[in-house]
Amino acid sequence: MSKKITIIGAGNVGATVADVLANKNIVSDIVLLDIKPGLAEGKALDIWESSRINYFDTRVKGYTDDYSKTANSDVIVITSGVPRRPGMSRDDLIGTNAKIVKSVAEKAYEYSPDAIFIIVSNPLDVMTYTAYLTTGLPRHRVFGMAGVLDVGRFEAFIAEELHVSPKDVSALLMGGHGDTMVPLPRYTTVAGIPLTELMDDETIERLVKRTQKGGGEIVQLLGTSAWYAPGAAVAQMIEAIVLDSHRVMPVCVMLDGEYGLENVALGVPVKLGENGVENILEVKLNKEEMALLYQSAEHVKEVMKVLDDLKLF
Ligand code: NAI
Ligand code: 2OP
Repeated sequence: MSKKITIIGAGNVGATVADVLANKNIVSDIVLLDIKPGLAEGKALDIWESSRINYFDTRVKGYTDDYSKTANSDVIVITSGVPRRPGMSRDDLIGTNAKIVKSVAEKAYEYSPDAIFIIVSNPLDVMTYTAYLTTGLPRHRVFGMAGVLDVGRFEAFIAEELHVSPKDVSALLMGGHGDTMVPLPRYTTVAGIPLTELMDDETIERLVKRTQKGGGEIVQLLGTSAWYAPGAAVAQMIEAIVLDSHRVMPVCVMLDGEYGLENVALGVPVKLGENGVENILEVKLNKEEMALLYQSAEHVKEVMKVLDDLKLF
């Protein structure tokens, strides 16, 4: 229980992480930080005022740009940056968000050199790489959230289509956090029954496509990007870390030969525990699935080149 989590960026996603995590009642302290005066303070106070009602002990506090308050955090979550608007891709955000992620990761690392870093800002895979370069931490301690959200969307769509409880759906998804992500129906089951036994190819393909464009679907509806499911996804990763529960979930991590790929941050299934990524699980992919994963990695590498051109490192 005696764990301190800092969330940098008290916007839609950051505040939701704080709220969901506080309600899990598994950490002692949550610090919300933002550059906008009063925002983190106000949201933290509002969440804290729900502690008696929702029955949690987690102390939630907010501060404006004061990194000394983040000192000795066990986990740092970076959600600071701009979200996309209709017509924008996640990749369009790189110029603004790379500078923000670099500067906040530097400051957070200075005060919490032993922390595990979870990156959320988009474009996710390249922002994870940015934080990896900035902190110099080993890859098992700096990684990104995307797969838990993307696979959660796939699972929700499957549950809706089959009219079953989402609790019984268990899917696998890999690759970058963009339209090239790779949902894997062959590794998806409903209470142990392969999805391929329950749906025809056409329906599966429709749900795969909806998942790949799931972020855009919300942007079209709201005019900004999602926060409830993303916030819940980050809280689930933190839970696996602070409880050292060895849960298996897709996480964006620097690859070093796994799946024949290296020097690229990409979503793969990992085991998460108190040291962060404990190991990367290498599942057997067929030729077609491997081709899709490589295509996704190629796309991430192209965006990494845009980062190189910014000459931040
Ligand atoms: P938001 O605009 O609601 O919140 C961002 C917050 O960051 C703002 O409050 C802003 O003041 C703050 N901020 C900006 N620069 C800062 C700095 N230098 N230091 C501290 N705080 C700073 O945006 P939202 O919806 O919370 O999204 C945040 C990021 O997360 C976006 O880049 C978005 O694309 C990304 N995202 C990623 C997802 C994923 O699956 N990885 C899912 C959803 C969003
Ligand atoms: C999402 O997928 C915007 O990346 C964010 O909702």
